[in-house]
Amino acid sequence: MRIGLLTLDQRGKVALFNTAAEQMLGYRAQEARGTPCEEILTGLTDLRSRLIRMRSSKKQEAQLNAEARCKDGRTIRLVITLHPPLAAGKGAIIVFQDARELEKMENQLEHLDRLRSLDEFAAGIVHEIRNPLAGISTNAQYMMEKIDPSGPFHEEVRDILADVSAIEDIVSAVLDFAHPSKPQVREALIEDIVAEVLRFSRMPLRRQGIRLLTDLGKHPARVRVDVSQMKQVFFNIVRNAREAMPEGGELHVSTTQLPVGNGHIRVEVEDTGRGIAEQYLARIFDPFFSTHREGLGLGLAISRKIVENHGGRIEVESTPGKGTRFGIVLPTV
Ligand SMILES: Nc1ncnc2c1ncn2[C@@H]1O[C@H](COP(=O)(O)OP(=O)(O)OP(=O)(O)O)[C@@H](O)[C@H]1O
Ligand SMILES: [Mg+2]
Repeated sequence: MRIGLLTLDQRGKVALFNTAAEQMLGYRAQEARGTPCEEILTGLTDLRSRLIRMRSSKKQEAQLNAEARCKDGRTIRLVITLHPPLAAGKGAIIVFQDARELEKMENQLEHLDRLRSLDEFAAGIVHEIRNPLAGISTNAQYMMEKIDPSGPFHEEVRDILADVSAIEDIVSAVLDFAHPSKPQVREALIEDIVAEVLRFSRMPLRRQGIRLLTDLGKHPARVRVDVSQMKQVFFNIVRNAREAMPEGGELHVSTTQLPVGNGHIRVEVEDTGRGIAEQYLARIFDPFFSTHREGLGLGLAISRKIVENHGGRIEVESTPGKGTRFGIVLPTV
């Protein structure tokens, strides 16, 4: 989270302008220095009178929302905290954050909270289901052995066994999500992990008329990950892409090194499928959110959890009717 900071001299001109302020507003510190504050934080029109009022009422800080125009003409919303001068002859301090970044962080925290209670809830239910399910399964198997294959009920018992096995799959997927196994971390090349997943996806993709285009060799990056968990992430995302292109299409998989010194690699999985409607975009990582009849809605929830446990993040952009791009960002060694 970036925190912009600037101090003012007695005349209300910028004295100090930190790096986060440079990044957020687009001005270099040298340019900002000596400029009247209102020319930079354009929404702060009545700053001087505000500061005077604060001093006379001995208020130590005040928070307000204001817009500011960046150097490139963009307008951003800021949450600003004003600290009036501590003594006569000293300048004021202004701290500010990008309101959108703050809102995003609040959403993430809320999401984490919801996830945590869901974890416990899911684990509780699954625990309750497991024992009776084992009972049903044992009894049905016993009946299967005893019933004449050409006689009555044979087919029904076989169906019961198939349904029980489907429930067992769901139970273990939910357990995986609620209590993932402890990661077995080792160093690996991200390209190898992705290539391995694609090796298994090649046939089903081709069968569905999807052209696979890869660009993996250019940025060999070493990551410290649980390889099988990470494979699961790419597998889930590639499978979703395939499901989004029932009539065929293209799947691009590539790696990009993020700016030098950043220490992160980004793997991109981009499809030309149906895309994700805007009202769903915020919900696709929620557990049990699915638009597929057969989907459990856990693929992305599990993937995000795994990636975040590795200190990374998953990003998504989508245009309905055109396609979707997932970016998996991981710290490199
Ligand atoms: N590449 C994509 N293109 C379009 N929609 C997508 C894509 N990836 C995910 N989605 C949407 O996000 C939803 C959630 O995905 P998620 O993988 O979590 O669950 P699922 O695929 O429905 O079920 P499963 O648990 O079997 O993976 C999907 O149902 C789909 O609506
Ligand atoms: Mg899925």
